[in-house]
Amino acid sequence: MRLAGVLWECASETHALPQMQSDIERVLFDGPAIHKRLDEMAAQITADYSGRELTVIAILSGSLMFMSDLLRRIPLPLKLDCLSVGSYHGKTRTSGEVIFKQLAVPDVADRNVLILDDILDTGYTLAAVRKKLEAAKPRSIRVCVLLSKRKQRARDVDPDYIGFEIGDEFVVGYGLDFMERYRNLPYLGVLRKELLERPNQ
Ligand code: IMP
Ligand code: MG
Repeated sequence: MRLAGVLWECASETHALPQMQSDIERVLFDGPAIHKRLDEMAAQITADYSGRELTVIAILSGSLMFMSDLLRRIPLPLKLDCLSVGSYHGKTRTSGEVIFKQLAVPDVADRNVLILDDILDTGYTLAAVRKKLEAAKPRSIRVCVLLSKRKQRARDVDPDYIGFEIGDEFVVGYGLDFMERYRNLPYLGVLRKELLERPNQ
């Protein structure tokens, strides 16, 4: 029976969430806490950029949920572009080498640029993105991150907007991944340490 088949598929998909939840050591920020903080950040950004047009450069894929929920709270004219960069090569430590996955960098000449990223860790990614965009001579450039790890950084990056400061732990959910998984969790949580240590998954 076709309908029964569809219902069974939907039910088995919803079971994927409890499966992922058992991989989470503890929840850091649940959906309502994230959204409350986004309200505050969006109000601040809206006030700071009032009367100016923003050009948002979101760093993929980690900032997808953050970008989508934050930008819908900012009632200003804005342009949006995305940059796909990588530095992890599937592990939990950055390689330090930031690779830009597209040839063309968005044209930001004379624009008020706001870079959005999910998390500031070593600083390699945001320092490289900022440098690349600065070369295109924007009028202004600011950095906004959902999370910032409290730690000594390899590169000096001082974000203008920070959602939450956290300890030096590996977090997933709400866009953040471990080996491309967990991005669809509706909250931010710390991944169980033993999962990080497994060589191949
Ligand atoms: P950075 O270059 O070390 O500052 O790291 C920035 C990028 O690494 C972020 O955009 C994330 O994609 C990823 N990253 C760093 N820490 C975490 C984490 O705890 N969980 C998931 N991704 C992370
Ligand atoms: Mg990532």
